[in-house]
Amino acid sequence: MINYNNTEFILSAAGTSQFLRGADIPTVAIAGRSNVGKSSVINSLVRRKNFARTSAQPGKTAHVNYFRVDDTFYLADLPGYGYAKVSKAEKERWARLMESFFAEADLIGAGILIVDARHKPTGDDVTMCNWFKGTGVPLLVVANKLDKLKKSEVEPNLKRIEDTLGLIVTQLLPYSAETNFNREALEESVAELLPTA
Ligand code: GTP
Ligand code: MG
Repeated sequence: MINYNNTEFILSAAGTSQFLRGADIPTVAIAGRSNVGKSSVINSLVRRKNFARTSAQPGKTAHVNYFRVDDTFYLADLPGYGYAKVSKAEKERWARLMESFFAEADLIGAGILIVDARHKPTGDDVTMCNWFKGTGVPLLVVANKLDKLKKSEVEPNLKRIEDTLGLIVTQLLPYSAETNFNREALEESVAELLPTA
């Protein structure tokens, strides 16, 4: 059992030179659109309200934030994408940072892509999903903000996410960082993503 209470912030990487390399434990990268709830899902996992900063200013954090979880794996909170009001220069900085992150095979041991359970995944979501698929690492897709759906919407929405992202064997987990719905299932899925020691 991974003790998520035992999580510490390690560093905020602003550029390629600061990415964690040659670590003793694998890195699980969390990606998703700006405002989809990446930081909230991390907060939900570590059971602390303001651990990973939830942003009042979406699109402002073009850093890769690393956390060390129970000496078992690193969580890398990737900067969000798709926020309309971000300047062209910021978007280009984001693209350079992510391209260099995904280009280096050793930086990622597994991936978690967070999408919004309410919406059809965007073109950017599809691109990010394909970046993960391209690395060949195990991937988990989390459909967050499930609490905002009516019961009747759940199944069709999940199906639409699977179809749009072309998920065949990849697991899709409905989730709510707000209510912690499926938190235990998420913990189990994350454990399964990790290479067995
Ligand atoms: P960036 O760091 O800007 O990319 O955003 P992020 O993906 O880290 O999103 P963040 O965790 O900051 O959450 C964005 C907003 O969505 C916040 O107001 C959260 O409270 C809210 N939120 C996150 N998850 C959920 C959820 O499961 N349900 C509901 N209702 N709100 C959520
Ligand atoms: Mg965030």
